[in-house]
Amino acid sequence: MRALRSGDTSPTAADAPPPTSPEDAQIALWSLFALHHLGFDDVDDRLEWDPVLISLRRELEHDFERSLRERAPAFPEPDDFAADLFSFIADHDGPSVAAWLRSSGTTEHMREFLRHRSIYTLKESDHTMWTIPRLSHRVKAAVVELQYDEYGAGDPRRLHAHLFARGLEESGLSSDYGAFVDEVPLEVLEQDNAMSMLGLNRRLRAASLGFLAAFEATSSGPSRKIAGGLERLGFGSEVIAYYTEHVEADAVHEQLAVRNICGTLVEESPDQYENIFFGAWICLDMDDRYARRMLSQWAP
Ligand SMILES: [Fe+2]
Ligand SMILES: [Fe+2]
Repeated sequence: MRALRSGDTSPTAADAPPPTSPEDAQIALWSLFALHHLGFDDVDDRLEWDPVLISLRRELEHDFERSLRERAPAFPEPDDFAADLFSFIADHDGPSVAAWLRSSGTTEHMREFLRHRSIYTLKESDHTMWTIPRLSHRVKAAVVELQYDEYGAGDPRRLHAHLFARGLEESGLSSDYGAFVDEVPLEVLEQDNAMSMLGLNRRLRAASLGFLAAFEATSSGPSRKIAGGLERLGFGSEVIAYYTEHVEADAVHEQLAVRNICGTLVEESPDQYENIFFGAWICLDMDDRYARRMLSQWAP
């Protein structure tokens, strides 16, 4: 961050030492991606395309993608695409933070969860917008149909990121973007960085949409559970409304994302089959890793 604020990026050049821990690598990557999202008040916007920073970002992305590909499982042989993707997602039966928060979490656990979610949710769906110009007309139209809902269908008060911001404020938490980035666990940064990486790289466009499909298909049920936990703990109506909105909306979005978006993409470009599953797996794996970390802390 010192290099970003001063505008002198030379210490980050190729001969600088690499980040010493996964946490350092992910926070560096998150800061670099932030230049493409909302930027920082005290960082020159021109640094978004600084060649030294782009080169550093590529190196960090390369290491991150390689570690994901090394861990990824074998994917099903192409057959009935929508049925295969739905069962790939359904068969992935990891631990559930949402179920635990509904039944057992305290107010402080829930507030911690909301702070973690703020890293992505205050810019919900933005990374998918980067994928749109890289798509065929049919796939593009289907993604925009989904994104139209995420962005409030023309009403800024219904924009999902805005609903979440109001929920944070109502809960006495800051809605400033990145306010909690120094306290979140590695898994939160990895999840957010994966979305940005998939969105910003054209060659990963199918993985970006596979991630979207898994994200939408694993949102409705957990959103209902989080809303139940928030109600049980006496949280306010705004934050509950953000989650209840996703119970209905994402039951529709999962069909749209799996069939109309990814289904059309694979019909037009069968060579992207594996990349779609790779993106879906990243989403599921990141959720699992986060759940394991938090449940081991909250309910050892
Ligand atoms: Fe949403
Ligand atoms: Fe959605």
